[in-house]
Amino acid sequence: MQYFSVVGLCLLALATAQEVPTLSPVTSVKGKQFNRFVTIWLENTDYDKAAGDPNLKWLATQGITLTNYFGVTHPSMGNYVAAVAGDYFGINHDDYLEIPKNISTIADVLDAGKISWGEYQEDMPYTGYTPFEWVNQQTKANMYVRKHNPLVIFDSVSTNKDRLGLIKNTTVFWEDVKNEKLPQWMFITPNMTSDGHDSSVTVAGKWTRDFLNPLLNNTYFMKDTLVLVTFDENHTYTSQNKVFSILLGGAVDKSLHGTTDDNYYNHYSEISTVCANWGLPTLGRYDVGANVFSLVAKKTGDVVRVNPDLQNTYLNVSYPGPWNHKTWAAHPAPNVSLVINGREVLQSIKDQFKDGGNTYYNGSVEVPSGLVPPVLIKEGGAFNGSHGSNGNGNYSNNNGNNNNKNPANAAGKVTAFMPVVLATVVLGWFL
Ligand SMILES: *[C@@H]1O[C@H](CO)[C@@H](O)[C@H](O)[C@H]1NC(C)=O
Ligand SMILES: *[C@@H]1O[C@H](CO)[C@@H](O)[C@H](O)[C@H]1NC(C)=O
Ligand SMILES: *[C@@H]1O[C@H](CO)[C@@H](O)[C@H](O)[C@H]1NC(C)=O
Ligand SMILES: *[C@@H]1O[C@H](CO)[C@@H](O)[C@H](O)[C@H]1NC(C)=O
Ligand SMILES: *[C@@H]1O[C@H](CO)[C@@H](O)[C@H](O)[C@H]1NC(C)=O
Ligand SMILES: *[C@@H]1O[C@H](CO)[C@@H](O)[C@H](O)[C@H]1NC(C)=O
Ligand SMILES: *[C@@H]1O[C@H](CO)[C@@H](O)[C@H](O)[C@H]1NC(C)=O
Ligand SMILES: *[C@@H]1O[C@H](CO)[C@@H](O)[C@H](O)[C@H]1NC(C)=O
Ligand SMILES: *[C@@H]1O[C@H](CO)[C@@H](O)[C@H](O)[C@H]1NC(C)=O
Ligand SMILES: *[C@@H]1O[C@H](CO)[C@@H](O)[C@H](O)[C@H]1NC(C)=O
Repeated sequence: MQYFSVVGLCLLALATAQEVPTLSPVTSVKGKQFNRFVTIWLENTDYDKAAGDPNLKWLATQGITLTNYFGVTHPSMGNYVAAVAGDYFGINHDDYLEIPKNISTIADVLDAGKISWGEYQEDMPYTGYTPFEWVNQQTKANMYVRKHNPLVIFDSVSTNKDRLGLIKNTTVFWEDVKNEKLPQWMFITPNMTSDGHDSSVTVAGKWTRDFLNPLLNNTYFMKDTLVLVTFDENHTYTSQNKVFSILLGGAVDKSLHGTTDDNYYNHYSEISTVCANWGLPTLGRYDVGANVFSLVAKKTGDVVRVNPDLQNTYLNVSYPGPWNHKTWAAHPAPNVSLVINGREVLQSIKDQFKDGGNTYYNGSVEVPSGLVPPVLIKEGGAFNGSHGSNGNGNYSNNNGNNNNKNPANAAGKVTAFMPVVLATVVLGWFL
């Protein structure tokens, strides 16, 4: 019986996630410091341990080590969401999550700037796959997980074939390299073994060096490319959430190889650096205040600021929010009046939030955490958190609070695929 339900689940998972055409659009918008941004995310390793890994140490000789770069919360998923949305909205879990269509991400900013983007997720079984996970069919070991695929968590991406087609696996990455069809912004997630999650930093370090080694000698890949190798979070929850990070690639001048940059950065810096480089508008969230990597800031005129309380910056626990399982809080409205070095908030976001709402984003370099919660700047307007109104943003009643790890159920699409269940049950009967 167990066997049949497993088959049923697999069929369901396949049925709910339709393969979509793989897309590799190419653009060549010139940036002030780089023309391509690549980030590779590894998992759950303390700074010192990563810094001591021989392969990561070698990679550090090929670029700049960022010695004060922070993850923003625990566990994993909030960090991935933060890096593309400028906030993690209180996420304090790794459960199945669909963030509603109306929550903007870096994809909106890149699209507005006509900058091609994509994600490469190792072992994602095919383009268009949106369920919770995919395991190795022989060993049942974890391979692909949705929680490490930041943009697919957003319905604005996962329900749009033209965007979903840009989220590919690493098989397609190597094809895109060969065909010179890489996007200008990309997020790379190794599988659960390769990224260190189910293994060790030794495995993650070796994977990363093996992955980058041929690319470092590939002139098409390297030309004006900035690569950020980072970790989602530090392993030890009670210490500061500092993670080992390296900037490398053709955009890092040889004279900087083997150097360190001690400025304060966090996952929001990934967004601010990209916006500064291409002169793009912002998301109006924590991305606005985040430091731009100093080698880029030198070209864009951004000021790299000091975190006045770095010693006490932990970023190790989530503040309340619409997708916090413990303490709910209304969806915060972006602060549409923030301007940083001439960059305003994306027009479509300004239009969406013209009636205001509860705002916490003040453009400061410091970001809140569960220990130092967000401070309300302005209350009121359409998204003020009032209970019972349509504007209260309590998505937890819908799909935002779905604990169900069954991808098919979690996707809320079970009924549409009942025939598949029936067929499986009937098949089970006869076998
Ligand atoms: C990460 O955790 C380790 C504990 O093993 C600790 O040594 C390190 O200081 C932590 N945070 C930072 C700031 O790297
Ligand atoms: C990667 O995705 C492509 C496109 O959907 C698919 O054909 C291929 O089998 C996938 N590769 C792996 C290793 O899953
Ligand atoms: C993860 O990818 C590596 C190659 O990068 C592969 O050797 C390994 O088998 C994959 N993990 C699983 C669980 O299949
Ligand atoms: C890449 O080029 C460097 C010299 O710039 C050389 O030392 C190294 O062996 C090359 N690596 C590969 C994988 O070809
Ligand atoms: C976060 O760090 C503080 C300071 O070390 C510690 O008191 C707290 O327990 C940590 N939180 C979690 C969730 O580990
Ligand atoms: C946006 O942030 C600025 C700077 O902190 C603040 O003065 C302003 O009141 C905020 N706007 C809203 C709508 O909250
Ligand atoms: C802005 O917000 C941050 C994070 O909540 C906070 O630490 C800082 O004190 C605030 N700054 C001002 C000027 O209100
Ligand atoms: C919050 O919004 C609701 C409905 O949009 C409104 O009735 C209420 O007066 C607002 N509260 C505040 C404090 O602005
Ligand atoms: C987003 O859409 C949801 C419904 O899916 C709605 O409840 C919520 O108020 C909207 N939030 C914003 C910020 O527009
Ligand atoms: C949001 O939904 C959760 C789960 O149904 C519920 O416990 C909570 O009271 C709701 N909060 C508001 C403000 O409506």
